[in-house]
Amino acid sequence: MPKKKKKVEETLRTGVIYCGDNIEVMERLPSESIDLIYVDPPFFSNRQHEVIWGNGAELRSFADRWMGGIKHYVNWMRERLMEMHRLLKPAGSIYVHLDWRAVHYIKCEMDRIFGIKNFRNEIIWHYSGWNKILKDHFENRNDSILFYGKGDEQVFFGYTIPWDSEDEYVKIRKQKVRTDVDGRKYVLSDAGGGKRIKRYLADAMREGRPVDNVWDIDKINNSSKEFLGYPTQKPEALLERIIKASSNEGDIVADFFCGCGTTLAVAERLSRRWLGCDVSPTACKLVQRRVSKLNKGSRKFEIIGMPVTIDELKKMEPFEFQNHIIVDLLHGTC
Ligand SMILES: C[S@@+](CC[C@H](N)C(=O)[O-])C[C@H]1O[C@@H](n2cnc3c(N)ncnc32)[C@H](O)[C@@H]1O
Repeated sequence: MPKKKKKVEETLRTGVIYCGDNIEVMERLPSESIDLIYVDPPFFSNRQHEVIWGNGAELRSFADRWMGGIKHYVNWMRERLMEMHRLLKPAGSIYVHLDWRAVHYIKCEMDRIFGIKNFRNEIIWHYSGWNKILKDHFENRNDSILFYGKGDEQVFFGYTIPWDSEDEYVKIRKQKVRTDVDGRKYVLSDAGGGKRIKRYLADAMREGRPVDNVWDIDKINNSSKEFLGYPTQKPEALLERIIKASSNEGDIVADFFCGCGTTLAVAERLSRRWLGCDVSPTACKLVQRRVSKLNKGSRKFEIIGMPVTIDELKKMEPFEFQNHIIVDLLHGTC
């Protein structure tokens, strides 16, 4: 029987991108060391995501095929989610981004791993698009993000967006607007125990509108300012909500399926510490460039585990190998 490799608990490093299978990376990291995890794993879509981008020479792609069906996918995710649970601090939170194909299966797994009492929300990310009448179903226009706390001490601030106008606020509250002796507008708000307090419209406008679990945010398309050409790139606005709602400045944010690094770029911009992992060397290099640009190259972000030996290079997918060489030639790192 092959000997089980001894796990090494490294001290946690931030500002680094691990290139490799996340299960192997996570197993090396210390328990209860991360404040917030967001992951956006392959979705069980039975597709190969491919896109030609940049000058047309680079081909990005990642496999999202599960020959063994949903059971295989769930088993694969289970061992990773268990590691994420171990890595989270007691006050930490996790957000797992899925869609209608796998969310129900993964919800059952997460209830088992994180505890049903720690389930907080299924966030519905709704995006607009051109809808057609289909033969036997409605258009799917949402992804689902499962949000769990690790326990009762969980850090959470919520998130607000601006009100369009005082009229919008009043319409939703369905209350009569009154005016005090100084001419300031208010509504009467229920303060519990039969008590009513004045809620000034100016205060409500300043504090903003708390968001619920349905988030309307545009998808990234090739005319978006943020567009990098990475398939399944997520909008920064989505990550900004998650990171602001569930972490403080200086906290440690991790994304173990980081793709082109949306989580890491937003964490960097919001003064959080971060670490990322992706199995694709192309993605890791893209992340490194993306976060370096944010601080104008003043800080070096290291990629750990980039393939270098002949054996490692031979193991790469053909398109990964091609990208690896082309990106290096284009950016002068070869
Ligand atoms: C849906 S994409 C993530 C997109 C990302 N949220 C963004 O905004 O760019 C999923 C990523 O998971 C990576 N991936 C798949 N299997 C992996 C594994 N075992 N370990 C690490 N990364 C993996 C893929 O290479 C891909 O970049």
